[in-house]
Amino acid sequence: PLPMPFTTDLPLPSVARPTRTDSGADYYDLVARTADVEILPGLRTRILGYGGTFPGPTIQARSGRRTVVRLDNGLDVPTVMHLHGGHTPPEHDGYPTDLIQPRAKRDYDFPLSQRAATLWYHDHRMDYTGPQVWQGLAGFFLVRDAEEEALPLPSGERDVPLLICDRAFSADGSMPYPGRPNGPGAAGEFMGGVLGDVILVNGAPWPQLRVERARYRFRLLNGSNARTYELALAPGRPITQIGSDGGLLAAPVRLEKVRLAPGERADVVVDFSAYPVGGQVELRNLLGEGPQAQVMRFVVDRAAKDDSAVPATLSRVEVLDPAAAKATRDFQFSSGSTHHGDGWVINGEAYKPGRFVARPKLGDVEVWRFTSDVAHPVHLHLAHFQVVSIDGERPAGPPMWKDTVELRDAQTVEIVTRFTGYRGKYVMHCHNLEHEDMAMMADFEVI
Ligand code: C2O
Ligand code: CU
Repeated sequence: PLPMPFTTDLPLPSVARPTRTDSGADYYDLVARTADVEILPGLRTRILGYGGTFPGPTIQARSGRRTVVRLDNGLDVPTVMHLHGGHTPPEHDGYPTDLIQPRAKRDYDFPLSQRAATLWYHDHRMDYTGPQVWQGLAGFFLVRDAEEEALPLPSGERDVPLLICDRAFSADGSMPYPGRPNGPGAAGEFMGGVLGDVILVNGAPWPQLRVERARYRFRLLNGSNARTYELALAPGRPITQIGSDGGLLAAPVRLEKVRLAPGERADVVVDFSAYPVGGQVELRNLLGEGPQAQVMRFVVDRAAKDDSAVPATLSRVEVLDPAAAKATRDFQFSSGSTHHGDGWVINGEAYKPGRFVARPKLGDVEVWRFTSDVAHPVHLHLAHFQVVSIDGERPAGPPMWKDTVELRDAQTVEIVTRFTGYRGKYVMHCHNLEHEDMAMMADFEVI
């Protein structure tokens, strides 16, 4: 039986403390290890966790300030960590074969020459990202900057990260991953991606958060392997989106629902002063049914003073001009055959490390055109981008920076990006983690 919804308090991931800090950088020590934790009431679940927790500790970083994370692999499997949304030199970007073997450690050096944004870090081991993230290897990495701090947005205890993901449990509390026995990925009914029937927020099933009658900023992250959500409030009131994968939007936008494919983030503001003290507000998933339509609940606890506001202008977002593109490239995301059997491919080719599908020049603007058979959330490392068109139409809403874009069934999405910062080898892949493990990934090299 599934646990009763709204009976657990929303946990907040602990905030990582630097082990050392000097004039040039903040240093963190993180151990990836197994741990037995209580996710379902009264049961123990074996996880793989950064710091032994799921989600891992939140790293709070500043734009332009070097952050060095030493990852100690205390697991009995290799791991590699990627800072998703990081503008990171290639040797620190978590390339899928840059493995840290069990009992080894390494430093990830993040310059963070990038604007404030909700990033996250997670395992990226080639062929095994799906099972290793499923078992818990994911955490928030928040980048802050002075531009954002100058705005009167909700902050402090009213700035809350929410990692939303689904998992499936056995009766003994374990979280088995239905991988295929001979080869990576998942077969049969899980070819489309592994889904769970329990919705977790910050690692707790359908939790509840007591809130004041005030504005809150929620940093929504879809950390699921394969599930897409359309999040809405019930009773229904619009949600104000202020940020996306790459930080603040140019202007806030009021939405009836916020759609998030795996890997995507949305920073939103919810104003609970619209509800009475004692009021209950559910965050629901319009794409789910029954228990999977529920996510979490807010209970408006008490009146409170609120000096926050959502300004009409949030940030200056440079709009990239697709006409400035030095190259236009086409990438087709579809099912196909791999050396492990049926899988997922890009332009007909299964992932092969070191085979480059594009060599953009440092500093160049390019347009990349993605087409799909079924839905695929496409993620680029290094390069944040803007969506130019979806099936030929300009997307609605203010300009924003993205690092992951959902291609829906049989869709064409054009993005424009500029390759800045670092030369070298990076990956692009489907962020449905089973598709990624089943070879829907490709290397590009910035030259
Ligand atoms: Cu969040 Cu290459 O991944
Ligand atoms: Cu996919």
